[in-house]
Amino acid sequence: MEIFNQEGLAFAMRWLHVLAGITWIGLLYYFNFVQVPAFAGFGDEGKARNIAIDKVARRALWWFRWAALATLVLGLLIIGVTENYMQGFMSEDSAYSLPHNSAILVGMLFGITMAANVWMVIWPAQRVVLANAVNVLGGGEADPAAAGAGRKALLASRMNTIYSLSMLFFMVGASHFFGPLFDGDSAGKSWTFVIIAVVIGAIFELLALGKIGGTAATNKLLWPFESHKNAIYTAIGLWVVLYILTEIFLKA
Ligand code: HEM
Repeated sequence: MEIFNQEGLAFAMRWLHVLAGITWIGLLYYFNFVQVPAFAGFGDEGKARNIAIDKVARRALWWFRWAALATLVLGLLIIGVTENYMQGFMSEDSAYSLPHNSAILVGMLFGITMAANVWMVIWPAQRVVLANAVNVLGGGEADPAAAGAGRKALLASRMNTIYSLSMLFFMVGASHFFGPLFDGDSAGKSWTFVIIAVVIGAIFELLALGKIGGTAATNKLLWPFESHKNAIYTAIGLWVVLYILTEIFLKA
């Protein structure tokens, strides 16, 4: 394969996209499965906790948010540099199969929502938490908004964990499963699949943002977000449901 042609460029975008993606999702899992449970052990008042927030979380958040942006941009660039990628997208005239297009569309919509959660919810909330840690370490008064901001970031972060399993399944599956291994190259109900997947994803997102179901700790609808274990179980459940939907709607 020649490297300095359009195909080589598309490959380079894919490679860099996956590199940025593993950096982002690796840190997402670090926050969810390691940092949050570990920092909870410090207790709310602990000086150690504020030092760890300032020295460790600050650095991890830098790599996390820029890797998220790089993943998003490089993912869109794959489309930009691949010949005929969007031609006839989601129609029988597409250069790719309809199951491929449906899979990558759902993967991208989940991924784009995840990147929006990082930049529009998690990072603004974490800035409040970081500023509070520095202020308290310097002898200042604790910001009463910091706990609420931390909770907001936590819910969005667990939401991203829930999305991640299905997002990556559709991302990798678009070229490597929904085509070569998935019998039935075309299907008439691909839009139905995409719409149902988006509605299910959106309900979870609205719950995580507190837009539906309320934000009270006693709200049973928030069960998926109440611990990292619940988020993992929910992620698996969401994937199972979406996989069954692909069997129903994407097979010819
Ligand atoms: C943020 C939004 C994202 C967008 C817009 C996006 C876009 C894309 C596109 C267009 C492809 C090519 C799919 C194809 O037709 O084969 C792709 C592939 C892929 N993406 Fe993403 N992506 C996003 C997030 C992620 C994340 C977070 C990861 C995590 C690691 C990831 C990992 C992958 C992988 C592993 C592939 C398969 C590469 C291959 O098989 O050649 N993507 N992505």
